[in-house]
Amino acid sequence: MKTKILITRKISNVAEEKLKSRFDVTLNLEDIPIPYEELINKANEYDGIVSTSWDKLDENFFNNIKDKLKIVAQVGVGYDNIAISLAKEKKIKVTNSPNVLNDAVAEITIFLMLAAARRAGEGFNLVKSGNWKNQKPDITKFMVGHAVTGKTLGIIGMGRIGRIVAKRVQSFGMKVIYFNRNKLSNELEYGAKYYSDLKSMMPECDFVSIHTPATAETKNILNASAISLLPEHSIVINTSRGSTVDDDALIDALKNKKIYAAGLDVFNNEPNLDKRYLDLENCFVLPHIGSATHDTREAMSMMAADNIECFFDKKKLLSEVV
Ligand code: DGY
Repeated sequence: MKTKILITRKISNVAEEKLKSRFDVTLNLEDIPIPYEELINKANEYDGIVSTSWDKLDENFFNNIKDKLKIVAQVGVGYDNIAISLAKEKKIKVTNSPNVLNDAVAEITIFLMLAAARRAGEGFNLVKSGNWKNQKPDITKFMVGHAVTGKTLGIIGMGRIGRIVAKRVQSFGMKVIYFNRNKLSNELEYGAKYYSDLKSMMPECDFVSIHTPATAETKNILNASAISLLPEHSIVINTSRGSTVDDDALIDALKNKKIYAAGLDVFNNEPNLDKRYLDLENCFVLPHIGSATHDTREAMSMMAADNIECFFDKKKLLSEVV
């Protein structure tokens, strides 16, 4: 009997074809997230699952797994939707798709920095609504924002994506500082200054950008006390996961102008984000599109397919989580 693989969402055609050429593959032709209960019921029919961040593979999911499922290959670098410790306990391999999305996420980070600093959301709405012509073009006020060039960017989490951001913003003449569990080697720092303590870094930031994985340790890392240390002109950027931010604290800071603006691609409880963000003119929002380029999604899909193939060929996995 052929090895059975479930691909929970539409992935790239090439990756689907690759898997179909040698496995018995079930595709999700409608490309609608498979409801939680249905996924739990289906999972025991498969030897492997290609998952995405829409799939809730929590403890309950793994507790229901008997012994057929051997590997979950996630299309995505983040795997906070997967109960990793339970997968490990059940001896189910989990892989992700790191590195191939670094550039795309760094691009969106820089895009959000520019958009939030230069009030792109307000400007876009003004033109689209036809209200531009009704504005008084006061040169010291009308759509005047903050520059990015020459400013200081504080990076929380100097991993693969944080480091690419640090490298890219050098073309804006930015000074980069970072908070990380450990200091990196000089070679990986790209001239950035290390802070072992987040609280000491915050007052130095014109921009602060989060690039940590979503873990218990990083939950609400940007909380009221951290935000209170940011300068009034500072801008918060998040392209990591919504759970790293305390929404009440960030919304309060934006609303009461304790900080200048935010650019957010990720939210708690996506896609049902806290609606209060939508009322804030100084918050530029995107629907979690950090890795959404054709090339990147293709590469992420292929990495998941390659991990499945390596696993059943008993070869070394490309990116093993557990
Ligand atoms: C990732 O890979 O984790 C991106 O955020 C897309 O989900």
